Amino acid sequence: MVRLIPRRPLIEELQTRTWLAHRITRLYLGCMDQDLWIAVDRYLADNLISSDHRMEEALEANACAGLPAIDIAPSHGKLLHLLARVQGARRILEVGTLGGYSTIWLARALPSDGQLVTLELDPKHATVAQANIHRAGLTPLVDIRVGPALDSLAKLEAENPAPFDFIFLDADKPNNPAYLDWAIKFGRPGTVIIADNVVREGEIINDRSDDARVIGTRTFLERLGSHPQLDATAIQTVSTKGYDGFAMAVIKADA
Ligand code: SAH
Ligand code: DHB
Ligand code: MG
Repeated sequence: MVRLIPRRPLIEELQTRTWLAHRITRLYLGCMDQDLWIAVDRYLADNLISSDHRMEEALEANACAGLPAIDIAPSHGKLLHLLARVQGARRILEVGTLGGYSTIWLARALPSDGQLVTLELDPKHATVAQANIHRAGLTPLVDIRVGPALDSLAKLEAENPAPFDFIFLDADKPNNPAYLDWAIKFGRPGTVIIADNVVREGEIINDRSDDARVIGTRTFLERLGSHPQLDATAIQTVSTKGYDGFAMAVIKADA
């Protein structure tokens, strides 16, 4: 049969179209009223998240110490908190502490005998986080471990820890595929795994990206979707922190 469109150029054409669609989407988003979704996020937070001076203090302390303002948005911190409560989480693992803002949201979901282990590369971030966590009265529940998370995870394994019920991945994105393997190892059937920043202003659909964070996230999402032990989804979000998203997976019951 005569092929009207040769195979190779067709694939290239489709790739180009995807890339074009992606560029146009970004252009369109640039024109959209970002002020609107920021205002709506603030409105929702004002109505649904009771004003909490410990949280505000933590963000102020982070800013004073010169930490980047890449903490989770308040509405998303509350979402993680509620998810951990719905899960009945007693043991939480977090990868990427920064100043402990998300840590505080998560630790507040724990019962008084719960535990949260959080891993942070930068000793300065960990020091600021420790102080924030202390002011929030959560020191007995939170164990901050300083160093590259892959090293801390290997050390943690040697301690033969009880399974974690809830795992939040929010550190260096190129390592997310490796963190996923650890999360499965440290979880149990029913464990919830959440990863932050999986949409990256839509850059995630750019299969030509040379950004290691995009490549790492794409590999992470592919593994999340194809892993036989996981049920997964992802949602896009807009917030005071811009256009991004979360991935969520639950470890399946043993077959
Ligand atoms: N979860 C925090 C934000 C984390 S920002 C919040 O929402 O409040 C990402 C953090 O990961 C930064 O503090 C950064 O220093 C840390 N990080 C980067 N690479 C890391 C690595 N290899 N191991 C552990 N932490 C890392
Ligand atoms: C970055 C990291 C994050 O976890 C985040 O939520 C936003 C930005 C970053 O490394 O730039
Ligand atoms: Mg993040």
